Amino acid sequence: MDTGHAVRRIGVLTSGGDAPGMNAAIRAVVRKGVFHGLEVFGIQHGYAGLIRGEMARMDLNSVADIIQRGGTKLFTARSEEFKTPAGRAKAIEQLQKVGIEGLVVIGGDGSFRGAQELSHHGVRTVGIPGTIDNDIPGTDYTIGFDTAVNTVIDAIDKIRDTATSHERTYVIEVMGRNAGDIAMISGLAGGAESILIPESHFDMELVLEKLRRGLERGKRHSIILVAEGVGKGMKIGERIRQETGWEVRVTVLGHLQRGGSPTVFDRVLASRMGAYAVDLLRTGKNNVVIGLQGKKLVALGVDEALSMKREFDMPLYELAGILSI
Ligand code: F6P
Repeated sequence: MDTGHAVRRIGVLTSGGDAPGMNAAIRAVVRKGVFHGLEVFGIQHGYAGLIRGEMARMDLNSVADIIQRGGTKLFTARSEEFKTPAGRAKAIEQLQKVGIEGLVVIGGDGSFRGAQELSHHGVRTVGIPGTIDNDIPGTDYTIGFDTAVNTVIDAIDKIRDTATSHERTYVIEVMGRNAGDIAMISGLAGGAESILIPESHFDMELVLEKLRRGLERGKRHSIILVAEGVGKGMKIGERIRQETGWEVRVTVLGHLQRGGSPTVFDRVLASRMGAYAVDLLRTGKNNVVIGLQGKKLVALGVDEALSMKREFDMPLYELAGILSI
């Protein structure tokens, strides 16, 4: 949506689960804003902090030395209060008090819905997709996903060393909420024997049959990647142990997937998206989210973006299955 006039004072916040590269996006918003003579305010602790008025002016120095850091300098939170009309009214009051006309929200789809509510009350908003899950429609990649899969790959490679030495079966559970992207990409890159994801029904009998076939042709160890959206890795490991009598070990990678220094890909993506968000606000855009489509950044209406079907790369998943035959 085009509101026709530019903004002079903008805010930036991070919301929901943190993701590596969020700091690079904050840095880009602040520096691009300052470059164009805007006043930029950092809002701490997401929408919860906005309600409490936790905001401070940021300058070039406030974002020095953060491009390489995981997490978010502005802290993050999931706010129940912001979901209520009273909470949102407080947030709007805080923005009006400081004279913030435009807001950049870095987070996931829940955070974008929140931004949309603000945009209905006169605050111009732009969303930047930041989550390790890669589960936001309208963008090929979210900030943090690339770093997370590189972290998972590092873990798979290490687990494979010990799996080979002990000739064991390993189940590795990875994050992703209801999306199987982390499991699929890291499973393909890590040569996992089976990858269980919520986007595709799996038959435990077939998983076991594949493991037995491997054993028959002399394969002494296996790695099975389980996306958390499918269920608990522990349960799947126990089932394999019961059915086969083999020694099985289970590793739940957990929150280590959310930390660490962002990869080059995430730093560049975050820098581009942060700068583009400022351009969108400067040219009077409102209620949009940014997506990466191919090599290009696009701005989509929040409703349009969130109603799009998220495209899971099924052919790539099938390829992973073929290559691990
Ligand atoms: O959305 C990011 C994510 O790490 C998911 O992959 C996971 O399901 C969830 O957040 C974990 O949330 P929390 O940090 O609240 O345990």
